[in-house]
Amino acid sequence: GVIIFNEGQPGEGADDRRILLTGTLGTPTTNIPVVSTTFAVGDELAAAGTTVTLTADTESDPHRKTRNVLAESRRGDPDKVVMLGSHLDSVVEGPGINDNGSGSAGILETALKAGALPTRNRLRFAFWGAEELGLLGSAHYVAGLSAEERAKIKLYLNFDMIASPNHVFGIYDGDDSDATGAPAGPAGSDEIEQFFESYFTTIGKPYTGTDFTGRSDYGPFIGVGIPAGGLFTGAEGIKTADEAAKFGGEAGVAYDKCYHQACDTLANIDDEALEVNTGAIATAAFVYAHSRTLPEA
Ligand code: PHE
Ligand code: ZN
Ligand code: ZN
Ligand code: ZN
Repeated sequence: GVIIFNEGQPGEGADDRRILLTGTLGTPTTNIPVVSTTFAVGDELAAAGTTVTLTADTESDPHRKTRNVLAESRRGDPDKVVMLGSHLDSVVEGPGINDNGSGSAGILETALKAGALPTRNRLRFAFWGAEELGLLGSAHYVAGLSAEERAKIKLYLNFDMIASPNHVFGIYDGDDSDATGAPAGPAGSDEIEQFFESYFTTIGKPYTGTDFTGRSDYGPFIGVGIPAGGLFTGAEGIKTADEAAKFGGEAGVAYDKCYHQACDTLANIDDEALEVNTGAIATAAFVYAHSRTLPEA
């Protein structure tokens, strides 16, 4: 099933941003073992406009099903889909607030606001399940696309860890301009990277190129040639002296010292990073949702 945004016009009242549910919530993924915390984000999307509370499901049956939750704008050319995604699951060791409540909050906020806007292109949001078990939710989704459906997805933007306490502002290096030797993304990924670079330049924040090796849910998308990009503030890697000079924070310490641990709680969020990156997400969503030209794969 798919969650569809209400068609309400801006200014029509409190119902403007309500999101309607059609069919069953989420796309069941078959037989995926999940032993992690999940959030009832679909219910919250459905109740947009009310206070968002996240309910934790600590069920640990290794054979239970998990779900991807998909939300899509009702307006915009259905043949030109601009897609954003983040994973909702965490590792079993901790609540996963930076990894990846942060990215999920960023796209959820964008999705809720997007409900009141007309768009030229179709906007689709994915809240992936089972990323931590090997990108299972996103891989299942991409594998299930027909060639026709796949061709409609013009770009995919991924947000996995966007508020690390000792953060850098990382932009996926889709063109390997940092010459790390990592394979560059599909054609068009360079353009997405440049979009984010110009955003950070405009708001006067430093940025750096970061890992684009497929270690998150964009992997299955670039695997089938869909241009992709995204933001990342760092995981278990250690901040260098140069990075500390550029971004502040502590050299010689992990970007996220609570990565995949019990201490990945609300206290593990850098508010400034969350705000800056959520602004980047919303800007990217609205610019691409309205753009006449989209990255050429
Ligand atoms: N996908 C990793 C996770 O969820 C996070 C990560 C992304 C780490 C990219 C390194 C590089 O744990
Ligand atoms: Zn993780
Ligand atoms: Zn993650
Ligand atoms: Zn680059």
